[in-house]
Amino acid sequence: MGENRLLYLSYQDIVDIDLSMPEIIEAMQKMFRAKGEGRTEMPPKPGIHPGGGDNFIHAMPASIPDLESAGIKWVSGFPENPAKGLPYISGLLIFNDVHTGLPLAVMDGVWMTAKRTGAASAISARHLARPESSVMGILGCGVQGRSHVEALKVLFPLKKVVAYDVNPAAQEQYVTEISRSHDLEVIPAKGPREAVSGCDIVVTAGPMMNPPHATIQPGWLDEGAFASLVDYDSYWQPAAMHATDIFCTDDTNQFRTAQQAGYFKDIPDLHADLGELATGQKPGRQTPAERTMTANLGLALDDMAVAPLLYRKAVEKGIGTWLPL
Ligand SMILES: NC(=O)c1ccc[n+]([C@@H]2O[C@H](COP(=O)([O-])OP(=O)(O)OC[C@H]3O[C@@H](n4cnc5c(N)ncnc54)[C@H](O)[C@@H]3O)[C@@H](O)[C@H]2O)c1
Repeated sequence: MGENRLLYLSYQDIVDIDLSMPEIIEAMQKMFRAKGEGRTEMPPKPGIHPGGGDNFIHAMPASIPDLESAGIKWVSGFPENPAKGLPYISGLLIFNDVHTGLPLAVMDGVWMTAKRTGAASAISARHLARPESSVMGILGCGVQGRSHVEALKVLFPLKKVVAYDVNPAAQEQYVTEISRSHDLEVIPAKGPREAVSGCDIVVTAGPMMNPPHATIQPGWLDEGAFASLVDYDSYWQPAAMHATDIFCTDDTNQFRTAQQAGYFKDIPDLHADLGELATGQKPGRQTPAERTMTANLGLALDDMAVAPLLYRKAVEKGIGTWLPL
């Protein structure tokens, strides 16, 4: 690898690299242990808001010496995009050489955003869900609804997925696709409650809303169940969150920043973040009956755990386009 060039990896290149979910989960577990032991760096993410409204572009830098990883993801979310036929989330990641600081690669950030979010929920679930969990409820049959089944299936003996979406076409397509691509029974839920009650693991992955639509009521989540709130607290009534025994997140500092920005106004006390769970500084689930919950916000560290794997595999397989610096 010369020092006067960088590797450009498009979305399609990244798909072609064919990095597996178990590889992503393994790298992220190492990262969360390093984070818990204080061996990572991740300043709070600054953002700009072109056009106002809920539009954002965030800068997400992080360094993970254990994984020889350093870099930044520059990621945007523009809620009006889907109506224009454009993706809601787009982004690029710059991967730097930890020894020289030189940029080694520029890569599309959409694929990793989908996969690492599912992987983070799966790692939380390893600490917070019952190991024999086999029934999963999905609310929001989109990108995250898909990556979460893929990730949780790696760590749990999943048999059945109950899927709910407000858009019947999205729900139907999801049921057909997931039952074909995974060896799972996939059932369309008639309403949101069916995708919560009776499930061991519940993932809410609808749109992020502030104020929250707060559809899920106390009493819906079963004793012994685990829930991952991918869309922040949008889906849950405060009383339903307060009815859980353990409420966690992925990074306490980032969680406090989100609270200052007006999210998570009425939630239980934070029990632990994922670094503390990964190192055992704080216990996860302790009894089969506990209701547990995590609201992972998505970290620059997640992306920077995945980026070196993509870069190394791309170089090995000869994928991507070399560009002069
Ligand atoms: N925490 C993180 O790290 C992280 C990372 C990426 C995305 N997200 C969040 O995850 C959520 C899902 O993202 P995505 O990329 O999968 O979006 P997506 O647009 O691909 O899918 C969202 C789906 O939710 C459906 N939906 C809308 N309202 C609903 C409701 N009330 N109940 C059930 N379904 C509903 C839509 O029809 C759509 O099918 C968003 O809120 C996004 O901001 C979080």
